[in-house]
Amino acid sequence: MKAVIPLGGKGTRLRPHTFTRPKALLHVAGKPALGHILDEVAAAGITEAVLVLGQMGEQIEEYVRSAYPRMTATFVEQREPLGLGHAVSLTRDAVGKEGALIIYGDTLFEADLRPQLSTRKDASLGTISCDDPRPFGIVERSGGRVTRLVEKPKEKKRGEVIVGVNVIRDSGGLYDALEELMRKNLRTKNEYQLTDAMQLMVEHGAAFTTFPVKRWLDCGSVDNMLASNAALLVRKGKVLAELAGSSVAAPCHVAKGAVIERSRIGPNVSIAEGAVIRNSVLKDCIIHESCVIENCVLDKSIIGGHAVVRGFRGSTSLGDFSSLAGSR
Ligand code: G1P
Repeated sequence: MKAVIPLGGKGTRLRPHTFTRPKALLHVAGKPALGHILDEVAAAGITEAVLVLGQMGEQIEEYVRSAYPRMTATFVEQREPLGLGHAVSLTRDAVGKEGALIIYGDTLFEADLRPQLSTRKDASLGTISCDDPRPFGIVERSGGRVTRLVEKPKEKKRGEVIVGVNVIRDSGGLYDALEELMRKNLRTKNEYQLTDAMQLMVEHGAAFTTFPVKRWLDCGSVDNMLASNAALLVRKGKVLAELAGSSVAAPCHVAKGAVIERSRIGPNVSIAEGAVIRNSVLKDCIIHESCVIENCVLDKSIIGGHAVVRGFRGSTSLGDFSSLAGSR
């Protein structure tokens, strides 16, 4: 089985950060969000991944090749934003009938994937229960059997939501359904939806089941990214740099090679390699590589790579290579 990870989304809710890097490369708890996904893939024993890339895809290619050299990665380009179903359809040649573990690119999760990979059903979808499933795809069932999948249901009624971790054993059937969807031009919200293709499979008699996702961490907006950072740091945070005259309140991640001087860090702060923090107080922040922060009090902030912030107090989202100066 191969992992399929669609990463074509533009990440408009994460601007300005996504003007210069794909959202999957924004850091959460010490590494790019994509790193957490690839760690789950590797932990499930999968060694081959097919990644569908959109804008700035070359950055993703470079990251995967350098950070996951043992993963056999294939990169496929999605030139038009025609939806998740379209993105997955582009992986047919790379995956064929071998089976696919499809993980949506903005989905950080905790679930026990290994038993699902040997499912005897045609597909097993990771789900979680949700009070208002209207922004998602849902699974309807009768008894143990999945009877219908609906993308963006109209009714606000508690339901079982598709998280974005799908084990598709019958990948040949899925690719056929995706082709049917596109041939018949069946779109929801003007896009070719993966949920709609899986519904076609159900209509053609495929047997679907579900498995519980214990925790689902969204990274689609600045607030959600900071909340996911805080949640993941509890398990994944490590302080790996020297701290000169500074203190750290857990949970935090401080990468090796970061310089922290006369500062108070934490809780819920993630600091990447090469960052320099001096005379500052940081709480609930994601600090990307090689940025400089001096004489600041930062809360609920994401600071881009190579950015410079001096004398600023408050909360901000500063893009890569940008600078911000406040008065103190
Ligand atoms: C996509 C899927 C939807 C799923 C959701 C999970 O929606 O189409 O079925 O429930 O991801 O995040 P999107 O986030 O693209 O609107």
